[in-house]
Amino acid sequence: MTLMLPVPLPARVLLLGSGELGKEVTIALQRYGCTVIACDSYGNAPAMQVADQSRVFDMSDPAALSAVLDESDVDLIVPEVEAIATDCLSASEERGVRVVPNAFAVQATMDRQRIRTLAASLPGVRTSAFRFAHSAAELAAALDEIGYPAFVKPTMSSSGHGQSRVTGPEQAMSAWTHAEQDARAATGVVIVEEGIDFDYEITLLTVRSWDAASGTVTTSFCAPIGHRQEGGDYVESWQPMAMNGSALERARTMAKAVTDALAQAGNGPCLGLFGVEFFVRGDDVWFSELSPRPHDTGMVTMATQAQSEFELHARAFLGLPTSTALASPGASAVIKSTRAIDTPAYSGVATALATADIVRIFGKPISRSGRRVGVVAATATTPKESRVIARRAAAAITIDDAQNPS
Ligand SMILES: Nc1ncnc2c1ncn2[C@@H]1O[C@H](COP(=O)(O)OP(=O)(O)O)[C@@H](O)[C@H]1O
Ligand SMILES: [Mg+2]
Repeated sequence: MTLMLPVPLPARVLLLGSGELGKEVTIALQRYGCTVIACDSYGNAPAMQVADQSRVFDMSDPAALSAVLDESDVDLIVPEVEAIATDCLSASEERGVRVVPNAFAVQATMDRQRIRTLAASLPGVRTSAFRFAHSAAELAAALDEIGYPAFVKPTMSSSGHGQSRVTGPEQAMSAWTHAEQDARAATGVVIVEEGIDFDYEITLLTVRSWDAASGTVTTSFCAPIGHRQEGGDYVESWQPMAMNGSALERARTMAKAVTDALAQAGNGPCLGLFGVEFFVRGDDVWFSELSPRPHDTGMVTMATQAQSEFELHARAFLGLPTSTALASPGASAVIKSTRAIDTPAYSGVATALATADIVRIFGKPISRSGRRVGVVAATATTPKESRVIARRAAAAITIDDAQNPS
């Protein structure tokens, strides 16, 4: 594969997944003159609203994805979601199209079985104890070995879908059924993880960027992001998360080990930003999972860093210099829809912006309750103060149905 770094601009980019994270990546790329073709399974998705072109199709269908890859003639493929027919990506990569960060990393991280097995095999990387189970009976046996509480998850899922916290053997059957029904793709296998009683959990945004002076890849880290999840879905995040020095050092070492392994196993320099998740208790740190792309909890960086996680991702895979410096402590809080709405009308944005730094309304067509439709981020002198401001500001924003007001 011929590889020019920095990538000659303007590049043509195929964005696979057009949610709120992809929308920000699109904007970052367009600032460097890139042409972005945004893809998703539904029309007018957030990134499509700002992209140069869009394609609506089922990205998990190999035939449909191959057809789009063939006709779009792009320089770079940038996956923004996990639900992709990843075999097509390897084929494109073999033909010389760069996949961000590489096809192997995209493939391995969409499957908990692959990424967990890989991470746990690396020296110095600690994970919770885990087993895989292929039936309800195997799950019951695995739970017996792992003990309680345990987490049962489909191997292909995200945002907490199909996940159960299991506290006793009598819940094995319902956990199996829930995982089978709510998985993104039926794999017939679940992961059983030892429940970690952590003090807090973090996302460590890890950036692999190109250093033109030395002609090598360097790894750098944003300040750790603390976050709170409800039902496996993020509701607020803050940066920096106060951590003791040795725990932070362990997390950085593990993040580097895992991202280096993804680089070694795949093609090319493996450039881009990764959201690496850890559980922390005292000095103890457990690697949990990672995304080879911006992370939802990292939306706080739109307020806290001069280069947000989206700007960092774009710069890194284009081969441009990056800086992970924190400009101010801050926090983000999500705005969720409380019901199914066809024609959303937002109010309270002015109230929110009286104290918060940014409001992002994603522009999603809202079809269900609980869907994330926006985010607020605020800065202050401490993360704690920022959290109060962000939460209040998010609560000030309400969504109604313009055609069918409540
Ligand atoms: N083994 C575990 N021990 C304790 N908490 C866990 C464990 N696994 C998951 N969780 C909780 O559930 C959340 C979502 O799990 P995660 O594996 O990150 O799934 P997803 O891919 O849906 O984000 C985590 O951020 C954490 O709060
Ligand atoms: Mg997660």
